[in-house]
Amino acid sequence: MRILVTGRNGQVGDALTRSLQGLGDVIALDRSQLDLANPDTLRTAMRELQPAIVINAAAYTAVDAAESDEAMAFRINAQAPRVLAEEAERLGAALIHYSTDYVFDGSKDGAWLEDDATAPLSVYGRSKLAGEQAIAEVGAAHLVLRTSWVYGLHGENFLLTMLKLAETRDELSIVDDQTGAPTWSGTIAQATASIIRDAGEPAQLAALSGIYHVCASGHTSWFGFAQAIFADPSIAKPPRLHPITSAGYPTPARRPKNSVMNTDKFRRSFGDLPAWDHALADCLRLRRTN
Ligand SMILES: NC(=O)c1ccc[n+]([C@@H]2O[C@H](COP(=O)([O-])OP(=O)(O)OC[C@H]3O[C@@H](n4cnc5c(N)ncnc54)[C@H](OP(=O)(O)O)[C@@H]3O)[C@@H](O)[C@H]2O)c1
Repeated sequence: MRILVTGRNGQVGDALTRSLQGLGDVIALDRSQLDLANPDTLRTAMRELQPAIVINAAAYTAVDAAESDEAMAFRINAQAPRVLAEEAERLGAALIHYSTDYVFDGSKDGAWLEDDATAPLSVYGRSKLAGEQAIAEVGAAHLVLRTSWVYGLHGENFLLTMLKLAETRDELSIVDDQTGAPTWSGTIAQATASIIRDAGEPAQLAALSGIYHVCASGHTSWFGFAQAIFADPSIAKPPRLHPITSAGYPTPARRPKNSVMNTDKFRRSFGDLPAWDHALADCLRLRRTN
């Protein structure tokens, strides 16, 4: 079974190259090999490669930059997934696509369910929601996996930023009024692999089509996430942390206050997801041993 992965150099794309081993003939392409900004290239690649499953790990993920780059964000996050879904439909293939907690406005008291009303606060969130809707409209076999607060040992993310800042700073002020589930890229890649292992063929995936929340269990704030990172024994001199509100760290894009997503649907269908702090410990252990 041929599996095409886009965004090979991203956090999730990189983790997928390891987790998908043994599950098929995996072709993972980076931006230089497959540019989502170019629909013709996408159509040609899909028709030439004829994958049974396409995993779209590429996205415009620069949340703040998207505020002043709306056309490109929509091109990559909404138009490209539509083309991938159209081509998947044409081939009888299945599309696995990632979306985000930022489709929600953060106003709910409890954890967000898959069918809760969406109301993104940012261009990025709107572009990702448009991608979800485009895929559903096309009607190909599709699983849209919404995840949150992605980190890992590869790429740009909160964990690596904190580790770098620890080398130069004695004190850090970290936002404490946004709540979510930090999710290791390895967890997302493993969850994706378990979908393919369990459901396998596109026809089976078609029966499972829809949106799934895929993030670590439990929740914390960015401040709590930073505290957990700096509790790692490998950090010689952890900076002193000060909690601040979002107002104290203004950014071009607004973020949801409550990003916590309910993952029961994924667990019922495909199995367990780790607690965020356990996954962080695993990730940091991997960093120490590498
Ligand atoms: N990061 C998060 O906190 C977060 C949270 C919730 C949901 N998600 C979603 O999870 C998925 C994976 O995100 P991630 O964290 O792995 O993102 P990432 O590390 O930023 O990786 C995104 C990848 O997309 C590639 N890309 C961007 N524009 C492209 C284009 N025009 N053509 C081809 N590739 C292009 C980038 O290529 P280059 O390497 O060349 O730049 C990069 O490799 C995305 O759908 C994202 O929206 C992420």
